[in-house]
Amino acid sequence: MKLELKNINKSYGDKKVLEDISVEFTEGVYGLLGPNGAGKTTLLNIICHLLKPSKGEIFFNGKPQSQDYYQYLGFLPQHFSYYPSFSGLDFLLYLADLKGMKKGEAKKESEKLLDLVGLSDVKKKRIASYSGGMKQRLGIAQSLLNHPKILILDEPTVGLDPKERIRFRNLISELSSNRIVILSTHIVSDLEAIAKEILILKDKKIREKGSSNQLLSLIEGKSWEVLVSEQERSQFMQHFVVVNERILSEGVLLRIVSDQRPSTTAQAVASSLEDLYLYYFREEAIL
Ligand SMILES: Nc1ncnc2c1ncn2[C@@H]1O[C@H](COP(=O)(O)OP(=O)(O)O)[C@@H](O)[C@H]1O
Ligand SMILES: [Mg+2]
Repeated sequence: MKLELKNINKSYGDKKVLEDISVEFTEGVYGLLGPNGAGKTTLLNIICHLLKPSKGEIFFNGKPQSQDYYQYLGFLPQHFSYYPSFSGLDFLLYLADLKGMKKGEAKKESEKLLDLVGLSDVKKKRIASYSGGMKQRLGIAQSLLNHPKILILDEPTVGLDPKERIRFRNLISELSSNRIVILSTHIVSDLEAIAKEILILKDKKIREKGSSNQLLSLIEGKSWEVLVSEQERSQFMQHFVVVNERILSEGVLLRIVSDQRPSTTAQAVASSLEDLYLYYFREEAIL
């Protein structure tokens, strides 16, 4: 199975958002990482054939996108609308009907998916009573109705609490066998454990692409910890990318990403993907 993007370009009016994006996807989870406005939704909508690229083409198993491409595709949009007065089950049955599934099959499939995403117990409860995580899981269930080979999830973890995030990650992992899963996020920890490859979208291009370990090697030797006094702290904050700070009795322990040792007392520490994210997106990063 292979999904190929070839020289994808997209402009809105004269504003260029994507430039010459060429990537290949095979089975497994891919994380599209970038801050707000990077063009993640634009790229995913193009992959979903909902938006036309200004230039470039997409091939699935060697065939260009066409009407029958949709049968391979499952999609959870960034802003997904539910009908709050529907129950989870009614909602899936309704969408299955829209997708042209037969009644019996729709019922069987909906029940199966509700079970898969852990919503069987609440399938007859109104969606309005669901937590954010439950709604996202229902969103995933609907995206799976037609057994898609390509699953696109646009910022699926927004609004989830830490427990729901873990549950969600496990679910995505389960879903990724024999499937291409592409999910966008600006939260690195969503991807660390589950992504086969992470794609960093910056300045209209895929700037880096690789496994967590491959990406980590890019910033090896650029992560530091330094203990500073309250007075020194603001100096460091101005001059360096500070990933994290901890107030200790001896002072403030700063975690910094920097090409050079930020001070003679700084200790080199193992890098994390969070460091990498800030290294690439220091201007955009809001701490
Ligand atoms: N329909 C549109 N018309 C004009 N500009 C758009 C449109 N959709 C998105 N943009 C702009 O394109 C850029 C990328 O947006 P988007 O793809 O939504 O990024 P992301 O999903 O990474 O936040 C942003 O600057 C956004 O304002
Ligand atoms: Mg978006």
